[in-house]
Formats: sequence, structure tokens, C-alpha cells
Amino acid sequence: MYENFEELKKDCFSCQKCSLGTTRTNLVFGVGNESADILFVGEGPGENEDLQGEPFVGKAGKLLDKYLEVIGLSRQKNIYIANIVKCRPPQNRDPKEDEQEACINWLREQTKLIKPKIIVCLGRIAATRLISPDFKVTREHGQFIKKGNIYFMGTFHPAALLRNEAQKADALSDFQKLREKMKELEIEL
Ligand code: URA
Repeated sequence: MYENFEELKKDCFSCQKCSLGTTRTNLVFGVGNESADILFVGEGPGENEDLQGEPFVGKAGKLLDKYLEVIGLSRQKNIYIANIVKCRPPQNRDPKEDEQEACINWLREQTKLIKPKIIVCLGRIAATRLISPDFKVTREHGQFIKKGNIYFMGTFHPAALLRNEAQKADALSDFQKLREKMKELEIEL
């Protein structure tokens, strides 16, 4: 259990618990407000993220920022963004089970410090890991599930939306549901 982000970052940035540690350019810890009420979780860094050390900075990230803006959220102000794994899987393959297992504790520690009221899982990898192993994004997106003190919701991964325009309307409606949940929980913008 960490007392603050400084101590957590110090340990995390030197992590070599799995082989992704040997191929990374930068570890992508996370970005945003460290006491945000809403935490977004993606899958793992891609090429741009690995080079810049920040999550969701490529094309998919630009799309995510647009959806956030529609409901008054931004990584500079009122949310935190992290990933299931903090180092880039080669060729952007899915993070393997053992890599997720090695890394997930860093996200748990971040979550304990941030204390979010809502966690939004971006795509299958995050949703199956954090909500339920058999989560199906196309079937269960936009639904809130309370576990402990936190509401979880899974939605489409922004990279999937770039490949499949037809899902963009559903994604927008998920963000609107998020806005409604924020109002219900009296989360200020
Ligand atoms: N995709 C993710 O899941 N996370 C990132 O940080 C970038 C792309």
C-alpha cells in the first residue's frame, strides 16, 4: 500500500516484472487528476504512447478526447487515464495473461490513491479484466455495475471505433449515460 503517487511512481518506473519491461521506450504510468472521481482504463500503450510516455496520445486518443469533451471531461482537469499494462506489447498485440497479471497491481495501487467513484473500461481487455471475464462489449456496453464502492462501465475501445464507424453512435450514448451517472452521484465538472 502506497501513501502517495511519488512513492508509487518511483517503484513502478523501475518495474521489470515481465518481459515488456525490456522492450519499452517509456513506461506509461497514467495521466490526469490524481484525485479524479472518474478513472478511464485502456488496454496498453501503443507506439505513440511508448514514445511519449503518455496514454492515448495517438489517433485513438484524439477520438477519446473528443468524446470526453462532449460531456465536459478532460485529462487536464477532471479524469485520470491509465492502462491495464504500462508497457507496450510488441506490434501492438494484446497483452498476455501473465503480463496483465504482473502489471495489474500497479493499477490497483493507483486506484487506491485516486479513489474514483466510477471506472470506465475502454474495450474488451479492460472490461474482461476489471468487470467480468465473460464481458461482451457489444452486448453490455453502457451498463453500470457496482462493485464495492465503485461503479464500473465498459464501452468501446476508441481504436475499435476508428475501424468501425457504425459503433460511434452507441459509444456517444455510453458517454451520455456516464454524464447521467455523474449527475446522480453529484460529481461536479
Ligand atoms: N490504446 C490503449 O488501450 N491505451 C493507450 O494508452 C493507447 C492506445
